[in-house]
Amino acid sequence: MAASIEQTAASWSKLGDNYATSIVHKSGPSLAKLIQLARPQSTDLCLDIGTGTGHTAAELAKYAHKVWGLDPSHGMRLAAEKIYADIDNLGFIDGTSEKTGFPDDCFDIVTARHTLHHHPSMPNTLAEIYRILKANGRFVLVDEITPKPELNDWYHQLEITRDPTHKRSYYLSEWQDFLKDAGFEWIVGDSKTVYHLDIEKWINRMEPSREQANTVRQLFLSASEFAKETFNIQIKDNKAISFDMPMAIILAIKPARNED
Ligand SMILES: C[S@@+](CC[C@H](N)C(=O)[O-])C[C@H]1O[C@@H](n2cnc3c(N)ncnc32)[C@H](O)[C@@H]1O
Repeated sequence: MAASIEQTAASWSKLGDNYATSIVHKSGPSLAKLIQLARPQSTDLCLDIGTGTGHTAAELAKYAHKVWGLDPSHGMRLAAEKIYADIDNLGFIDGTSEKTGFPDDCFDIVTARHTLHHHPSMPNTLAEIYRILKANGRFVLVDEITPKPELNDWYHQLEITRDPTHKRSYYLSEWQDFLKDAGFEWIVGDSKTVYHLDIEKWINRMEPSREQANTVRQLFLSASEFAKETFNIQIKDNKAISFDMPMAIILAIKPARNED
């Protein structure tokens, strides 16, 4: 059964230190691209959804007027507050992407990086983001994608074994549909950015049980040749060493309403 939001928040709470120090999250190649697309200005009010230990929110805060980092996990927010305590225009709050608690039309920018594959309902999440963005407000999302439909089952099994709070990694075409259905205008988006990940670090960041970790290792070793090629899985001495994870990076805008 899929994890509830309370279970998801509780299991993330013990991972604050792991994510606070994760180089991939602190400075992975998607972060600079997200900032480039979001174009934060000194007057902008921003919200970073699923902020975790706050790395994306802290980067936005270098340019924006005020940034809120929102996350349902107390432990992640505590870790964020500890490492980014000295940033005056950055605050962290409790909430989910389905229910942020903010009024209509209030943000210039909303971001969501490495988080949406955990969220239970993309239509509900996107409806909430649309509601709280101002007209012409920017929404930038970064999320791992499933690169080929034929690999969906294998990839899903891998993710859900490592992290039972994982819900689904979508195809780029699904993102296009989700955003259009929610009323957004798709400005730009691709999956050219790839994370080259060390498999042991990737597994251990989630602190799985020994059994879970061994199953993940085995899934890499027994992957089809197509999966090995698509994800660039490197194996040495019968040990899976590294793989490449493609990221969608998308800018969408809430269009201004035509009042005619
Ligand atoms: C990998 S961490 C986020 C990393 C962070 N955005 C960054 O750039 O470093 C994923 C976060 O998503 C949060 N999350 C899970 N479900 C959520 C939901 N429905 N709404 C908001 N956040 C959620 C988790 O609590 C966790 O802190």
